Amino acid sequence: MRFKDSGESDVDASRRYFGSFAGDYHEAFKGGGEQPLHRLINRAFRQKTFQLRTEWVRTMLTQYGLAGKTVLDLGCGSGEVSVLAASLGARVVGLDVVEPMIALSRAGADAAGVADRTEFRVADIMSAPLPSSDVTLLVGVIEYYQDLERLLARACDATRGLLIIVDTRGPFWRRALRHGLAVMKGFHLYYRPADEVAGLVRRKAFEQTERLVGHSFTAMAFERRTA
Ligand SMILES: C[S@@+](CC[C@H](N)C(=O)[O-])C[C@H]1O[C@@H](n2cnc3c(N)ncnc32)[C@H](O)[C@@H]1O
Repeated sequence: MRFKDSGESDVDASRRYFGSFAGDYHEAFKGGGEQPLHRLINRAFRQKTFQLRTEWVRTMLTQYGLAGKTVLDLGCGSGEVSVLAASLGARVVGLDVVEPMIALSRAGADAAGVADRTEFRVADIMSAPLPSSDVTLLVGVIEYYQDLERLLARACDATRGLLIIVDTRGPFWRRALRHGLAVMKGFHLYYRPADEVAGLVRRKAFEQTERLVGHSFTAMAFERRTA
């Protein structure tokens, strides 16, 4: 149990929190996990949510068409969505602030036979230079950042075409459980109304093309305005 240090930045809190269970985060996609609390959360919540949101992202990427395109996966975690994008024909750069997540991503790309189309690097997406890309993914990341405006501005500036944003929230009781976990583990969650997120992205010359709300996650797709 650890309560959030008042002086700890959201980047440091994310690095510490996700760094403490990278392997078990990866196991969520299969409903496993070594630590009993993670196994329980993975089986009860994360596995189904991750499957559903990955399918939603797959549909968006397939509709857009990835052949010959570049994808930037910001906060790529253990790399499942990056590997999916590479399998759909893209060249992918995945960035994460936790080194073991990057190691898992590389191993996943190797196992899927897409290592030659992926590059994974340890980087802080709030401060590192971001490579320009046709498609940018922010899956399961925005709710950890109070300075959402900065994070979205950086993601938009890096994106020539499609921007996909997914956060994990769900109904009130589920958000309350997640807040309980955040208090226990010492990080913050900042849930924003979908309209607020969309408004910030629209200000950067994007149109919203898809929105899925009312699930265990909220998902949005935006395309850069051309004229
Ligand atoms: C909930 S996980 C989502 C992982 C992945 N996108 C997915 O869909 O499974 C959030 C990830 O964002 C990463 N992250 C959080 N803040 C970051 C930052 N400032 N720079 C890079 N990665 C960050 C964490 O380390 C973690 O791996």
